[in-house]
Amino acid sequence: MPGLKREFGLAVVGCGAIGRIRAELARDYPGIGWLGLCDINAEVGHNLQQDTGADFFTTDYNELITRPEVDATIIATTENDHTRPILAAVEQGHSLFIEKPLATNARESEQVLKAIEKARLDAVIGYTQRFRRRFLAVKERVFTGEIGDVTGVVTRAFMNGAAPVVTLSRAANHRASLTPMVVSGTHSLDVSMWLMEGKKPVSVYARSNDRVMSQYGTKDSTFGIWTMDDGTMFSMNISWALPLVWPGAVYGLEIGIVGTEGAIDIEDTHRDVILASSRSQKTPYPLPEGVDDTRHVEFLTSFPPGDIQDGQLWGPMREETNSWYQRVYTGLKTPHASPQDGHRNLVMTMAMDLSAKLGKEIDFPVNLDELGEPED
Ligand SMILES: NC(=O)c1ccc[n+]([C@@H]2O[C@H](COP(=O)([O-])OP(=O)(O)OC[C@H]3O[C@@H](n4cnc5c(N)ncnc54)[C@H](O)[C@@H]3O)[C@@H](O)[C@H]2O)c1
Repeated sequence: MPGLKREFGLAVVGCGAIGRIRAELARDYPGIGWLGLCDINAEVGHNLQQDTGADFFTTDYNELITRPEVDATIIATTENDHTRPILAAVEQGHSLFIEKPLATNARESEQVLKAIEKARLDAVIGYTQRFRRRFLAVKERVFTGEIGDVTGVVTRAFMNGAAPVVTLSRAANHRASLTPMVVSGTHSLDVSMWLMEGKKPVSVYARSNDRVMSQYGTKDSTFGIWTMDDGTMFSMNISWALPLVWPGAVYGLEIGIVGTEGAIDIEDTHRDVILASSRSQKTPYPLPEGVDDTRHVEFLTSFPPGDIQDGQLWGPMREETNSWYQRVYTGLKTPHASPQDGHRNLVMTMAMDLSAKLGKEIDFPVNLDELGEPED
């Protein structure tokens, strides 16, 4: 990919928590000469325009995406609202940064992937955890063969229940599609599959339960076991219903990788930096009214995008965003997830949900129609 090698125009569609982080970084990136914003919530968008000095704001994504100044577009809308703005940006031939999940419906995800492939666009998906230093270091050692051939991966994700409460409360519809695997487990699955690059899933067997989160229209936990085409076993488990007093502000992850000549054990639970205070610690995003999030202990660094110091974000999302701006400008090769990775991740997470629903093993390749329409 050659890169534009000139100042470029950036459109950010969706000015919520993540669109804000990426737009603020764009404001400070020297290669971006024009910044336009869109959100259906005008107040949210105007606030971000004021804070970033953006050149343009509209509540209509078509109006932004068809502006002649725009070369690249970030899609940072809510999970169920990615597809239409993506297709509009593909039509304009923009470089694309799309927040995960690619879509929340497998057929829509396939449609988006095909459109991107047909247009031969450079597009990446926001799997931010690839940019956490420990995973980059592990990726390199697995790639250079330090542990031989990988034969088993064990992944365990624990999440504070605040994340699903927020995600589900802002979803107007298709709530049943917002499962722990599709929304959050997709990050840990992506990192695990990235570390197992080249292996293809042949079957999955999974189970879910919903004792706590059924009141919000989602599940508590999904545990699954995958078999890959070379016999590698992959155990992928997520629980996103931990009580709001859990010290992990958002997430904690453990990944163990077993190879024929070694093993790598990754501790990403953030239990190494603990704060305890008589003051209650703030959940990193606004919770619906009436939800009590009083919490006095925090595993610092457990906010996936990174950590705030003096009003600025430092960590994986800064590296991910700025290196994508470099990619657009200079053509830099970066470790971002591809649209093919994004589609595979959605299909794999939905297959775990289907296996849990049917109580049987699902074989791959899976018929996308079997993954079904989201039910409410
Ligand atoms: N990469 C990561 O680590 C990471 C972390 C959290 C969330 N996410 C993903 O980022 C996306 C956004 O999440 P968020 O936490 O910022 O949500 P958010 O609710 O804070 O922001 C989403 C914004 O999109 C706007 N919106 C919805 N439909 C729109 C449309 N058609 N046109 C214009 N604006 C529209 C909403 O009004 C809202 O302001 C989601 O897909 C989420 O899963 C990624």
